[in-house]
Amino acid sequence: MNIDIKAIHRAAETLESGKLVAFPTETVYGLGADAENPDALGLIFTLKRRPATHPLIVHVASGENLSYWADFIPDEAQKLIQVFWPGPLTLILKRSPRISAVVSGGQDTIGVRCPSHPVAQALLSVFKKGKGGIAAPSANLFGNVSPTKAQHVRDEFGQDSRLAQILDGGQSEVGIESTILDLSRINTHGPVLLRPGKISADDIASVIGKRPDKADKAAPRASGTLLSHYAPNTPVVLALTGDIPAVLNGLHKKGKRIALMHYSVFPDDMLASVFVRFEMPAFSADYSHQLYAVLRTLDEKGADMILVELPPLGSEWDGINDRLQRAAYDSRDVLKTVLS
Ligand code: TXA
Ligand code: MG
Repeated sequence: MNIDIKAIHRAAETLESGKLVAFPTETVYGLGADAENPDALGLIFTLKRRPATHPLIVHVASGENLSYWADFIPDEAQKLIQVFWPGPLTLILKRSPRISAVVSGGQDTIGVRCPSHPVAQALLSVFKKGKGGIAAPSANLFGNVSPTKAQHVRDEFGQDSRLAQILDGGQSEVGIESTILDLSRINTHGPVLLRPGKISADDIASVIGKRPDKADKAAPRASGTLLSHYAPNTPVVLALTGDIPAVLNGLHKKGKRIALMHYSVFPDDMLASVFVRFEMPAFSADYSHQLYAVLRTLDEKGADMILVELPPLGSEWDGINDRLQRAAYDSRDVLKTVLS
C-alpha cells in the first residue's frame, strides 16, 4: 500500500493540536483524538453523539509502553500481545492513575489495542514520536453501522469542521470491530469476552489455555454490547436459511420491497420477487470484510426491510452473528407484525 507520508505528518500534528482525525484500521475506521487531551476527547463524544460514560479504546504503536497506560499487566495479556498484536484484539486492563478517567468514561480500566493497518501504524509511529496514544471509537454516529471505507466516514459526518482530516487507507480488511477481552478482573472473574470479533474465543483459549467467559452483569460497560447497535435505518430482519422461501413469499404477498442479503444459492424463481439482493461470501473472513459496506449499500435502496439469511453458527462466525443480532434488535418483531 502506498502511504502518503505528508498526510500522516499533517494528521499527527492535527492530533497534537487537539483536533480530530479519522484514520483506517484493519477492523473499521476510527475517529481519533489525543488520548491525553481531555478537551479533544470531549470533541469525540459530542461529534459522535455518544454518552460520555462510554469508554474509548486507546490505540498504541506497540505493546512496549503498555505500563504507561495500564497498572497491572497479567501474563495472559503478555502472551496474547505476543501472538495477536498488532491486530484486532482490544485488552481491558486496570488503568494507570496517570491516565485521565475521561478516556475510560470514568471507569478504573482502560481499553488498549495496537492496530495492524499500515496507515494506523504509520500515524502512531509519528504521533508524539511513537509514545502517544490515540483514543478512537468507530468513526460513525452512535448506534450506526461502523465505517469500513473513507467515504463511509464522509457520509457520517459530512463537512463538519470538528473532524479536521480523514486519512484514506482503502477498505478495512477485517470489516468488523476488534475482539474485546476483559483481563482487568482476571484474578477474581477470569478472562471475559466483552465483544466477539475475528480473534475468536477459541483463538484466545489456544494461547492462554482458558476459554473466556461471556460478559456478566458486573462486567465493564461497552456500547458495542448494547442490545441495539450497529444498525442501518432500514429495519434489519433475520431468518434461518430454511425459512427464507416462506418469508420471501409472505412478504411479497404483502407488497413489501425486500433487500435480501444471503449466502446460500436459491433458485431464480424464488428470488424473482426480491427488490434488490446481495450474495455474500461463504467464508467468514470474506463475509465480515463485506458486511458493513453491504448493509450501507442496501440501506440506501429504499427497501421496506433488509432480510438477512442467518450465517452458520460456530466460533469463527460469532462476531458476525453478534453484529447482525444487534443490527436487528429494534426490528425483532417486524416479521411477526407484517406476516400476521
Ligand atoms: O476495532 C475497533 O475496536 C474499532 C477501531 C477503530 O479500533 N474501535 C471501536 O471503538 O470499535 P468503539 O468505541 O466503537 O467500540 C469500543 C468498545 C465500546 O463498546 C466501549 O464501550 C468498549 O470498547 N470499551 C472501551 N474501553 C473500555 C473499558 N475500559 N472497559 C470496557 N469497555 C471498554
Ligand atoms: Mg462503535
